[in-house]
Amino acid sequence: MDSPRPHERPTAFDRMLTPVHRWIWSDTNRRVQKLLRFGETETDGGRDILRAAEVTSDPLLRRLYLEHAIDEFRHGILFRHRAAELLRVSRSHSNIGFQGDWLAPGGHGLDDLQVDGESDQTMLAFLHLSEKAAASRFCIYRDVMQHDPPTRAIFEEILHDETFHMNYTLTQLARVEPQQHKRHLWRARLSRLWKAYLRLATSLAAILGSILLTIQYFVLLPPFAWMAKRAAHRESAGWTAVSPTSSDSLNRQY
Ligand SMILES: [Fe+2]
Ligand SMILES: [Fe+2]
Repeated sequence: MDSPRPHERPTAFDRMLTPVHRWIWSDTNRRVQKLLRFGETETDGGRDILRAAEVTSDPLLRRLYLEHAIDEFRHGILFRHRAAELLRVSRSHSNIGFQGDWLAPGGHGLDDLQVDGESDQTMLAFLHLSEKAAASRFCIYRDVMQHDPPTRAIFEEILHDETFHMNYTLTQLARVEPQQHKRHLWRARLSRLWKAYLRLATSLAAILGSILLTIQYFVLLPPFAWMAKRAAHRESAGWTAVSPTSSDSLNRQY
């Protein structure tokens, strides 16, 4: 069994992106938008875990899921309140522009979760990996937030809860599935990887689509515009008399 760790360390990938995270969080308006979005993600995640508490038949899991859901709702409130405070003190109205959502996503990725129809094992494996990812990212976000101590304190507090969520889900997975819990973790890992690939592919397709449309606009459209302009010059101005013989049919317009 993977031994539960009291503190999660950021992954090498998250650590590598630290300068990007520092830049993303440096702008107050961007910070407000991200905190609002994080608040939404946490609340949505809490709602899904509440549903998991309803559908599980395991009394211990139900109790833990309820506590977990309460934590996630509280995280949502913490993020939203901090965003509101920042919004109140922020005087500048700079253009928010690039948000870097795919580089600095909200914690869990719980939006991928389909609670109904999941077994306790798959649910716990999914939750463990999601909480682990959240703990890793929040660790980085806390570290790059030296310029904003109140927001840093919120990340510190939430990180403590996410580490607990990460650990209890692994412990419970090993309890309900002592023999094959690693297999469930690997399946959940592959599923997350596949969904990450799909997200990346969708983003790339959107970027490529925009580039192709822009190229079409500047390369294909001008010749047609030029031809239309030339044809318009050839048209005589005003009304054009139609010969009586060509318009004698009542079944067609011309
Ligand atoms: Fe959370
Ligand atoms: Fe969590």
